[in-house]
Amino acid sequence: MCMILAQWRQVRPALIEEASGEVADIFDKCMRFREEQRFAAQEDVPVFERVLFGVSPIENAGPWIDVGGRRMLQFSTNDYLGMSVHPEVRAAAAEAAARHGISAPMGARPLTGTVELHLEFERRVADFKRTEAALTFTMGAGAMLGSIACLAGPRDLLIMDQLAHASLVAGAKIAGATIKFFRHNDPANLERVLSRSDPDKPKMIVVDGVYSMNGDIAPLREICDLRDRYGARLFVDDAHGNGVCGEGGRGAAELLGVEDRIDVHAGTFSKAFGTYGGFIAGPKEVVFYVRCLAPTILFTKAAPACVVAATMKSLELVRSAKDRRRKLWDNARYLQGLLRERGFDVGATQTPITPIRLGDRGAVHCADILRRSFGIWVSAVVYPAVRRGNGIIRVIPTALHERSDLEYLVTSLQAAHAEFQATHAAQPQAAAATGA
Ligand SMILES: Cc1ncc(COP(=O)(O)O)c(C=O)c1O
Repeated sequence: MCMILAQWRQVRPALIEEASGEVADIFDKCMRFREEQRFAAQEDVPVFERVLFGVSPIENAGPWIDVGGRRMLQFSTNDYLGMSVHPEVRAAAAEAAARHGISAPMGARPLTGTVELHLEFERRVADFKRTEAALTFTMGAGAMLGSIACLAGPRDLLIMDQLAHASLVAGAKIAGATIKFFRHNDPANLERVLSRSDPDKPKMIVVDGVYSMNGDIAPLREICDLRDRYGARLFVDDAHGNGVCGEGGRGAAELLGVEDRIDVHAGTFSKAFGTYGGFIAGPKEVVFYVRCLAPTILFTKAAPACVVAATMKSLELVRSAKDRRRKLWDNARYLQGLLRERGFDVGATQTPITPIRLGDRGAVHCADILRRSFGIWVSAVVYPAVRRGNGIIRVIPTALHERSDLEYLVTSLQAAHAEFQATHAAQPQAAAATGA
């Protein structure tokens, strides 16, 4: 009898398909994906594919890169201070890799993966962020997702800026917490959400310090006031602020004078530090709790010594990189001034992140023309990183760019934009381009 039942269960799906004419395969959406997600009109597809799925050279940071034998000026990486190409950072990585290989120590942090180097690294991160303790992760997204996933639970309320980074939102979903969003960088709307929430429910406000696509800074002073007034906790992901903002490079909170009013500081090493990995920093009990429970600590291999060694060197350099920070900001102001003068819309950026708003077609075509005709490598950013139709060219000037590089970028962009308008702008934006 059991045998018959088992055989029936095997054939049943096929019978159901035959009867209904439907194919119930979980991969169906993958087969349809390319067609359905078409973001461009037919005639634009080759350009979109070239720009959005183009292959970068391995050495893609530094102002000048070699793309298949062609020297190109690049403005696409988040290597704000040029640390990814800093000889001392590279030497630290190379020395550690020569001694220990690229994977040591093997194992996850709670098993065999924690070594004295990790603990020393975490003491230095805590010292940098002026907190009691810190915990490091193998990636920034893992720091955000893993921390939020265990700090909040189904009884809790997370109140997030509507543009909070996707890794924070993913963590909130895993946590099973109630999630409410407030209007981007709008403390009045945050207050509205807080005032309508159950006062007895444990709650945490979750924001970015600097928003990666707009370049604007969270109004942390007002957010801290609301945190105090409504008895909430505050988690700040300052992936783009650390190393960049404030005299000491301690981020948006330093710049706005509220470092000690933030409960959990979080960040990544993949931007101004030029390496990779992420961290949280805060009270020792909170850090210990996350160390014991974050899925992205427990269920993944520890960071290799060569990466930790390089990041420790970079951290040391970033802390004292006042000249590079000054040059970065001078470059950013100069570039954004030039762009505005020439009529480009760079939104309300307050940091070196420079989003040039051109719409999806404009951004992709101009990036393509810049690459092909002017030897400039910039990235076009379209949905899902920004809203559909709101494509940008996202330019990141760094401390290593010269003024002449910035001037060349702006004149080239003007020419590329004129060419785009002359040849493409008259065509209607494809219906399939948006779909939503
Ligand atoms: C605001 C923000 N948080 C977190 C991350 C994730 O950092 P990582 O690339 O180190 O995983 C990023 C990077 O895209 C980011 O921009």
